[in-house]
Order: sequence, then structure tokens, then C-alpha cells
Amino acid sequence: MAYLVIEHLEDISEWLWLEYRHVSEWWKDKLIFTNVLPEERERLAELGSVLTESVTEFPFDRSKIIVLDLQAEEELRPEEIGEDTVIVVGGILGDAVPRGRTREFITSKMEGVKVRHIGRPQYSIDGAAIVAKLISEGRRLAEIEYEENPTIKLDEFSEITLHYAVPKLNGRLLLTPGLIELQKRELGYEEEISDGEPDEF
Ligand SMILES: C[S@@+](CC[C@H](N)C(=O)[O-])C[C@H]1O[C@@H](n2cnc3c(N)ncnc32)[C@H](O)[C@@H]1O
Repeated sequence: MAYLVIEHLEDISEWLWLEYRHVSEWWKDKLIFTNVLPEERERLAELGSVLTESVTEFPFDRSKIIVLDLQAEEELRPEEIGEDTVIVVGGILGDAVPRGRTREFITSKMEGVKVRHIGRPQYSIDGAAIVAKLISEGRRLAEIEYEENPTIKLDEFSEITLHYAVPKLNGRLLLTPGLIELQKRELGYEEEISDGEPDEF
């Protein structure tokens, strides 16, 4: 199985943590965080391996690296992913209109790597990592279902729309676990949340 690198480029908010935790469920011991500050090390080590260096500086063999970037010209294909391939996803939260931050902070600094997209819609960090995992297992991009801007019901009166694409598997949306509860909490639904799980943030 290939490796997944997340080039960590945001503060660790609760939302970011939920996405990272979801990535770790899919990539398990093949997940590496790069560009990690010393004070963030311990925290991220709960989810994967941790490197202080940026992936743009680390001496990985660049011929084995594939950067996922929305601005890429070619799509990611299963046959180009081997056991020692390193797939890089930007640890960058989405913008309603993508601003090319993956290119600015990663791709433009990494000559010699392959740069690939996973379709035109913007996925979240975990969504992109899941699509990459499914492709690394042999699926072609065209076979991967997704929903763009899904609307999620919070209760019988309210709903929220997520402004990005979410992958689906067997017809089921692969939403970031805990995200709806986080949204509800931020909207003041506090008393209604009781999933029996301790707060993990
Ligand atoms: C939420 S996106 C942030 C993208 C950022 N707004 C930009 O304009 O580059 C997080 C990461 O997921 C990956 N990603 C998301 N959608 C993608 C797509 N359609 N093609 C390739 N990579 C994608 C990229 O690695 C990106 O850095």
C-alpha cells in the first residue's frame, strides 16, 4: 500500500482535527504528517507519523511522489500508484472558491513530482485522502461516486450545506465523523448532543 503525506498548513482547529482523524482511519499506519511544529508533534502523533520538515524539503525520492492538486492537468490513475508511492494532500481547509493554495505552498516548490487531480470538484482533506485510497486500491476515478455541496439535515427544521464534494461508497456519503455534531454545537444545539462518546478534541 502507498503512503499518504499530509503537508500540515493550518492551525489544528476542531474541524481540522476531525478531518485528520478521519484520514487516519482510512490510511492507518501509512499516514505521515509533514511540516509539523514541535508543539503540535505529540498531538498529531496520535494519528500518524510526524516529520518537522516540509514535504517540499524532505529527501523523499521525487519520482515516487504524487501531489494531489486541483489545478493538475492529469487525473490520478490506479496503475501509477505502487507500494512505495507517496501521495501528498495539502493539509489546507477548503475555500468556497479554491485559491490555488496547494499550488502555491506545495506543487510550485516540488519540481520532478507527478501532479494529479481527482476530478474538478474540491474535496475536503479527508475526502481527497479517501478518493486517493480508493484509487490506490484499483478503482478508476470515474467509478468513484460523490456528491457536490451535500445538504445535511440537522433536525426537522434546519439543514446545512457543505460547500465541497463528499465521496460516497455503496451509495453512502463518507462524511467526516463528528462534523455534524460540531456544526450543531457551533449553532447552539449543545443539549441535544449525546452520542455516548467522550469529547475527543
Ligand atoms: C480542501 S482542499 C484545499 C484546496 C485549496 N483551496 C486550493 O485551492 O488548493 C485540501 C487538499 O485536498 C486535495 N484536493 C481536494 N480536492 C482535490 C481535487 N479535486 N483534485 C486534487 N486534489 C484535491 C489537495 O491536495 C488539497 O490541498
